[in-house]
Amino acid sequence: MRTYKIAAIPADGIGPEVIAAGCEVLSVLAHRVGDIEFDVTTFDWGSAYYKTHGVMMPEDGLEQLKPFDAIYFGAVGAPDVPDHITLWGLRLPICQGFDQYANVRPTKIVPGVTSPLRGVEVGDLDWVIVRENSEGEYSGHGGRAHKGMPEEVGTEVAIFTRVGVTRIMRYAFQLAQSRPRKFLTVVTKSNAQRFGMVMWDEIAAEVAREFPDVTWDKMLVDAMTVRMVKKPQSLDTIVATNLHADILSDLAGALAGSLGVAPTANIDPEHRFPSMFEPIHGSAFDITGKGIANPVATFWTASQMLDHLGESEAALRLMRAVEKVCADGIVTPDVGGTATTQDVTDAVCDAIRGENA
Ligand code: IPM
Ligand code: MG
Repeated sequence: MRTYKIAAIPADGIGPEVIAAGCEVLSVLAHRVGDIEFDVTTFDWGSAYYKTHGVMMPEDGLEQLKPFDAIYFGAVGAPDVPDHITLWGLRLPICQGFDQYANVRPTKIVPGVTSPLRGVEVGDLDWVIVRENSEGEYSGHGGRAHKGMPEEVGTEVAIFTRVGVTRIMRYAFQLAQSRPRKFLTVVTKSNAQRFGMVMWDEIAAEVAREFPDVTWDKMLVDAMTVRMVKKPQSLDTIVATNLHADILSDLAGALAGSLGVAPTANIDPEHRFPSMFEPIHGSAFDITGKGIANPVATFWTASQMLDHLGESEAALRLMRAVEKVCADGIVTPDVGGTATTQDVTDAVCDAIRGENA
């Protein structure tokens, strides 16, 4: 029996609803597979915790998380707590403290979900965006001087390091190599930004030499948005900076039909620390407590978690079940269905139990 210790942090809004759904599916999956089990510990950190304790997680939060094999994360964000507090108080300290430098965002058109692009069907859009997750525009460097005065200055400094760029590039080339098309697109803005971005281009060319079987090309981020809309079939694996990939992954989610199904993995490729898996959608306060949150992104990210833990067969099994349920039209209102979170969860559990192979 292989036992995985999972730290669940459901946090805010619909986070607890979708993480509960995800844990249910994981336990059915473990039964079905037979020789794995998940030992889940739930942490009550988040905005409610902040309102009582003045912090989003305890001071030794990272220490508490360290012994786990993976972190299963819901969402942060509350209407009455500033976003930079919820974000810099929980999610970013985990990403940065555990050096989860590769943020991996697969996007494809799930059967049963329609792309807003005319004539683009299941299979036409199948991308993985690799987002640099430890530095760049999110490095936290900058400041404000002369606050509130007419001469106030604010700086937000993007940091690109050779170590940081090389390791994300290598990760992206490796991922591209593992996919059937072996094709990577490197995104920058090296026409306007002459330093860090030109260094990205140079490092991409250097790392490319280690992967002679991977074909690669370069795009400027503005032109990339056009290519994603007009020629989605021409893309496969994509690597970009923290901010560029943040924006491109929202576009990708929208083009695939819904952000509600998009997952993300914050990975420490060296396995020194637990990696963190979460749906991309936020806390969605408008639908919190209504039981209609789409759990698909949370199931999909669980499949990424299984892959990272080396359980690729279970990961595939879970994705097959999710795709079958979506194809059967058992989907939540955000993607045009009438099913509840529980309906979708039950259907995925049934599909896992019912599969013969
Ligand atoms: C994401 C989100 C976050 C980000 C927000 C909540 C700061 O948009 O995961 O893409 O930009 O990293
Ligand atoms: Mg985003």
